[in-house]
Amino acid sequence: MVSNIQNGTALITGASSGIGAIYADRLAHRGYDLILVARNRDRLDRIAVRLADETGRTVEVIAADLNDASDLARIEEVLRTDASITLLVNNAGVGATAPLLASDVNKMADMINLNVVALTRLTYAAVPGFATRGGGSIINIASIVGIAPERLNGVYGGTKAFVLAFSQSLKQELSEKNIRIQAVLPGATATDFWEIAGTPLAHLPGEIIMRSEDLVDAALVGFDQGELVTIPSLPDIADWQEYEAARQKLMPNLSKQEPAARYRTSI
Ligand SMILES: NC(=O)c1ccc[n+]([C@@H]2O[C@H](COP(=O)([O-])OP(=O)(O)OC[C@H]3O[C@@H](n4cnc5c(N)ncnc54)[C@H](OP(=O)(O)O)[C@@H]3O)[C@@H](O)[C@H]2O)c1
Repeated sequence: MVSNIQNGTALITGASSGIGAIYADRLAHRGYDLILVARNRDRLDRIAVRLADETGRTVEVIAADLNDASDLARIEEVLRTDASITLLVNNAGVGATAPLLASDVNKMADMINLNVVALTRLTYAAVPGFATRGGGSIINIASIVGIAPERLNGVYGGTKAFVLAFSQSLKQELSEKNIRIQAVLPGATATDFWEIAGTPLAHLPGEIIMRSEDLVDAALVGFDQGELVTIPSLPDIADWQEYEAARQKLMPNLSKQEPAARYRTSI
């Protein structure tokens, strides 16, 4: 379907498969032109041709390895200089399912580099232009392991806890500049992620796995509702609100001159 809506351009990282490819589809149908980023150019090209044909949008492809400093710098430059960009979807990421201490530390460092450093640098590249142009949006794909790091490899959970905390802080700093931030926390989603992370999807119980189409459609409803944090599987939003209220209740007491009474020594 061809939409007449002009929403500007969305730059989506990790758009060659899984969740990112569905964002590409949905955003093109919502009237965004697209810049698709990932390493696999053939896959990106196929998606770009299909979406341009279906929607009439302009779809550009940039093959880049976000773990490569010069490739990452090229994408940062696009975000700094392309004034048509109104939305950044920080989606590219990898996980691991092996236990923390049984994992290769070099692979863990690469994961931190992609999930944390690249996402941070791309955000830094996009925000000044959004501020100058009076607005923009950033969707950061985190994970439920950001709040449940015991569920999978702990470095992966740590990277996603970073994405959540960074998003919360960005929201506070940028909302007055009309820059919208959303952190999406998917649970297990049916993509290549699991095979690459070390556990085939077939090894997971079916009742915890969401289709990537359902995940992205739900996340976009949360985006339309202006949510900062969207957990597509969570049935009752009150559960998140109570969790968040408990965090806020801690705030006034997290930094004090005196230690709490229970930590006072008797000497
Ligand atoms: N699937 C889940 O259960 C699940 C749950 C929670 C959160 N997530 C998060 O969702 C996001 C998308 O994952 P997915 O499930 O859609 O998995 P996926 O199908 O494996 O997609 C990952 C995407 O990231 C790209 N990518 C990987 N390494 C890259 C690199 N070095 N440079 C540039 N692009 C790179 C991949 O493309 P190329 O290989 O072409 O580079 C691919 O497009 C990730 O951040 C993941 O942590 C997934």
